[in-house]
Amino acid sequence: MSNQLLKGKKGIIFGALDEKSIAWRTALQCHAEGASLLLTNAPVALRMGEINRLAELVQAPVIAADVVNMDDLKKLFEASIAHFGGGVDFILHSIGMSLNVRKGKHYTEMDYGFNQRTLDISAMSLHRVLRTAWDMDALNEWASVVALTYIAAQRVFPDYNEMADAKALLESVARSFGYHYGVRKKVRVNTVSQSPTRTTAGSGVKGFDGFISYAERMSPLGNASADDCARYCVSLFSDLSRMVTMQNLFHDGGFSFTGVTPAVIDQMEK
Ligand SMILES: NC(=O)c1ccc[n+]([C@@H]2O[C@H](COP(=O)([O-])OP(=O)(O)OC[C@H]3O[C@@H](n4cnc5c(N)ncnc54)[C@H](O)[C@@H]3O)[C@@H](O)[C@H]2O)c1
Repeated sequence: MSNQLLKGKKGIIFGALDEKSIAWRTALQCHAEGASLLLTNAPVALRMGEINRLAELVQAPVIAADVVNMDDLKKLFEASIAHFGGGVDFILHSIGMSLNVRKGKHYTEMDYGFNQRTLDISAMSLHRVLRTAWDMDALNEWASVVALTYIAAQRVFPDYNEMADAKALLESVARSFGYHYGVRKKVRVNTVSQSPTRTTAGSGVKGFDGFISYAERMSPLGNASADDCARYCVSLFSDLSRMVTMQNLFHDGGFSFTGVTPAVIDQMEK
């Protein structure tokens, strides 16, 4: 069902890798709600070729950009301004990558070189994207920027490793840049803290199956799916939420404010 909530709006979607990606699901929802899109991902991700299928479905061009390469970001926004004939109304930052997790390094023995790259790709990349848009004046007034995060930024989930620190930094960048962009151009910046979701990035977390079923039992509404997240992002890109900015918004079926549930206790007593 479409309400054409994004009719006439233009947006850039970062991070659609395959059809499970939250960015992929969000691109489909935005398209169904009337938005015009431009898709982007790292050159290595584009080589997989999957994104071309999405590009056809949502009739969007695909531009390669490594999110930590400022030249790539500049070219991306140049392409977006040329394609749309001006600025964009929304951006989805759906990017995460942990080198220490990839290399099997425990949090207590992290490699600091890997860690710098993790923080850059997963958190400071939001600053890089916003700063490039700021310098090029590539966002329209009242534009909405959403980045995806996880509750390990506030509470300890030991196997989330260095990504917990990356998400805390990401949420802080959203607040800080959100302030400046709000004052300058009424642009709003928020993070959405999503339930564990079966995607390529999600499944990289150690013990993910146990993790996802624990969260399901701890959430009065159950885990939010990637499609649920996509719909929430649409609402944040729409004009219905135009006074919401600098927030970390939990989209997790109630998990974040639940202390304990009978479902979890029953499981422990088995
Ligand atoms: N899956 C979950 O359980 C979950 C829960 C909460 C938040 N999130 C967040 O949602 C976002 C999207 O992840 P997903 O679960 O859809 O997984 P995904 O693996 O489908 O998406 C991650 C994306 O990041 C991109 N990326 C990595 N390095 C990049 C770089 N240098 N330049 C540009 N793009 C780069 C990848 O190519 C990929 O498309 C991430 O921020 C993730 O942390 C995921």
